Amino acid sequence: MKILLLGKNGQVGWELQRSLAPLGEVVALDFDSPGPLSADFSRPESLAATVRAIAPQIIVNAAAHTAVDKAESEPDLVRAINATAPGVLAREAAASGAWLMHYSTDYVFDGSGDRPWVEDSPTGPLSVYGRTKLEGEQAIRASGCRHLIFRTSWVYAVRGGNFAKTMLKLAAERDRLTVIDDQIGAPTGADLLADLTAHALRSAQTRPELAGTYHAVASGETSWHGYARHVIGVARAAGRPVKVAEHAIEPVPTSAFPTPARRPHNSRLDTRKLQHTFGLSLPPWQAGVDRLLAEVLT
Ligand SMILES: NC(=O)c1ccc[n+]([C@@H]2O[C@H](COP(=O)([O-])OP(=O)(O)OC[C@H]3O[C@@H](n4cnc5c(N)ncnc54)[C@H](OP(=O)(O)O)[C@@H]3O)[C@@H](O)[C@H]2O)c1
Repeated sequence: MKILLLGKNGQVGWELQRSLAPLGEVVALDFDSPGPLSADFSRPESLAATVRAIAPQIIVNAAAHTAVDKAESEPDLVRAINATAPGVLAREAAASGAWLMHYSTDYVFDGSGDRPWVEDSPTGPLSVYGRTKLEGEQAIRASGCRHLIFRTSWVYAVRGGNFAKTMLKLAAERDRLTVIDDQIGAPTGADLLADLTAHALRSAQTRPELAGTYHAVASGETSWHGYARHVIGVARAAGRPVKVAEHAIEPVPTSAFPTPARRPHNSRLDTRKLQHTFGLSLPPWQAGVDRLLAEVLT
């Protein structure tokens, strides 16, 4: 089986290089990969020739424009990367009979209420990023290709920067921290997503009826404030330098940190469909974050 992995150096793409390896031959590209084959999503039509040249049975798209605030000022580029390019991949997948694996986001919802969103809850993106990710989903569904779309949230990875690393740094430097407590979601490891992807793709090869959209996040929920407290608590218990006292990690509303893009308050995603369909169970968000911290704090 040949698998084309796009966006191989992103948080999820990097972990997919590992998790997809047992499924077959993985051809992994990023937009600056050397050679004649383009994997530049800002030139969507160029992707068609790449898919045809590689002729994969599975296309896994981990590339995206994920800079949510920057996206507000470059909507055309974001639309090309997050919507038009996945549409081209979907068209090629439909023509060749390949599967398309794609990732989307809690930002397709408007964040109202306090109940977890299910897969067919009404969408209402608040930002350019959310709108273009939704358009990408719609283009994939409209193509008729066999696909899996995993909507996820608050992704972190050991590689590169992340919220936990930022909190560890600030906690060592400052005696007071303010962290948003009115956005609720589930921090989700790129490693978990990559493992879920491999399991789901393997099942789907023999059961095409499993195609569709699924919510894929770690279990449980927290706010950014709860996430920060957890991270700093683990660091303190591990004897790491922590200047900020626990009571000095202050909860603040989103309005305390004005940003160009609006973010949903309620990012809870109901994952029962994924768990039941694929026979998978999702670990509590703390398990993945503790594993991240075990690596970061050594
Ligand atoms: N991160 C989150 O919190 C989050 C939450 C919900 C859903 N998601 C979704 O999960 C998926 C994976 O996200 P991630 O966290 O792994 O994102 P990421 O770390 O930002 O990775 C995205 C990858 O896409 C690449 N890319 C950017 N512009 C490109 C272009 N023009 N052509 C080709 N590749 C390009 C990036 O390269 P550079 O790094 O060099 O720009 C990067 O390697 C995405 O679909 C994202 O929308 C992420």
